[in-house]
Amino acid sequence: MADNNDRGHDTPNSVVETSNSHVHALQVVEVIKETADAVSLVLEVPPASFSKFRYHPGQFLTVKVPSERTGSVARCYSLSSSPHLDDDLVVTVKRTSDGYASNWLCDNAEVGMSLTVLTPSGVFYPKSLDSDLLLVAAGSGITPMMSIAKSALIGGTGSVYLFYANRDADTVIFGAELDEIEAEFPDRINVEHWLESERGLPTVDAMIDDFGAYANFDTFVCGPTAFMETAREALTAIGVSNARLHVEVYRSLAGDPFAEIVLPATYDADAPATVTVELNGETTELSWPRNAKLLDLLLTRGYDAPYSCREGACSACACTVRAGEVKMLRNDTLVDADLRMGLTLACQSVPVTDSVEIVFDQ
Ligand SMILES: Cc1cc2nc3c(=O)[nH]c(=O)nc-3n(C[C@H](O)[C@H](O)[C@H](O)COP(=O)(O)OP(=O)(O)OC[C@H]3O[C@@H](n4cnc5c(N)ncnc54)[C@H](O)[C@@H]3O)c2cc1C
Ligand code: FES
Repeated sequence: MADNNDRGHDTPNSVVETSNSHVHALQVVEVIKETADAVSLVLEVPPASFSKFRYHPGQFLTVKVPSERTGSVARCYSLSSSPHLDDDLVVTVKRTSDGYASNWLCDNAEVGMSLTVLTPSGVFYPKSLDSDLLLVAAGSGITPMMSIAKSALIGGTGSVYLFYANRDADTVIFGAELDEIEAEFPDRINVEHWLESERGLPTVDAMIDDFGAYANFDTFVCGPTAFMETAREALTAIGVSNARLHVEVYRSLAGDPFAEIVLPATYDADAPATVTVELNGETTELSWPRNAKLLDLLLTRGYDAPYSCREGACSACACTVRAGEVKMLRNDTLVDADLRMGLTLACQSVPVTDSVEIVFDQ
């Protein structure tokens, strides 16, 4: 499908788009107090939006949290529900000390409230639920692991080893649910709780002892930065390859992915490049202003390209450059191995060559 309508902008041109196809309001239908400092919010998806909210276990929602100071802030929360088990979506939010959004949600979320969210996103999920899985979590890092573990047990055939570290027994989120899951699938899942109050912080040596038998499992790690560094060191020591190691870094978004998209003005002097894009089974050719980011171009032209943060931090918009060259203005998420495979972030890519071919295949 060729789009010829936007070729050759002769005059300054700016386009505004509200990216509606990704922005939805979901109603909170239940608030579950998991621990003294964590709540789960159960969100109902209207039947008309079911297809938009299909997700992989391990993906997250981006939530717009109202603020009197800045209008709103955007924060990502992993889904703790399983697409194989739960009709509704569930996110689990743990208070961050002095954090704005997490405390706002814990204090103010109530049944009947509507939350504005972006559709599920992220690349932190098993490519096959039949793989054996090593899940390494601390604190609120358990959230995507719950979704992955439940989904693997119900929808897959592999074994699951979950290492789950917490400060003390009172801070364990999903403790009772994990006991039930272990009782139901005794041959498929093994949960190792590590309580700092009893054993101190987990060390590299302790993790090497613990994980040694699982070096061939697909491995997922999520927790505070220091915990993840320790886990990474131990996993590298036992020989877990980069290809099998998946890491979810929790951080707060600085920008506003809900904001309107405005393409920068283009002038005669800036002859646009041409981009051929393969997305959702369709191939499209567009003229690409030199100073426009690829994601902004696609969304303003009405194409349903994936995204979440729009600031180079989450890799939801990752795509492959098949021909030509692009430049990323910012990249806080793709690693060297990704770049060698030709991956780029659509939300940060501008054209370098006159002609570029892109495929959304992630
Ligand atoms: C992929 C992903 C998945 C995640 N999943 C989870 C999860 O499942 N569970 C979970 O608990 N967390 C999760 N997180 C972390 C989460 O997104 C937030 O980073 C976390 O909740 C802390 O946010 P916060 O606003 O409370 O804290 P901070 O980001 O530390 O908040 C402080 C910031 O808010 C600003 N601020 C203070 N007051 C206001 C105000 N009134 N208005 C506007 N700004 C203000 C301050 O200036 C400061 O910049 C995830 C993150 C990512 C990237
Ligand atoms: S949308 Fe998050 S990196 Fe592009």
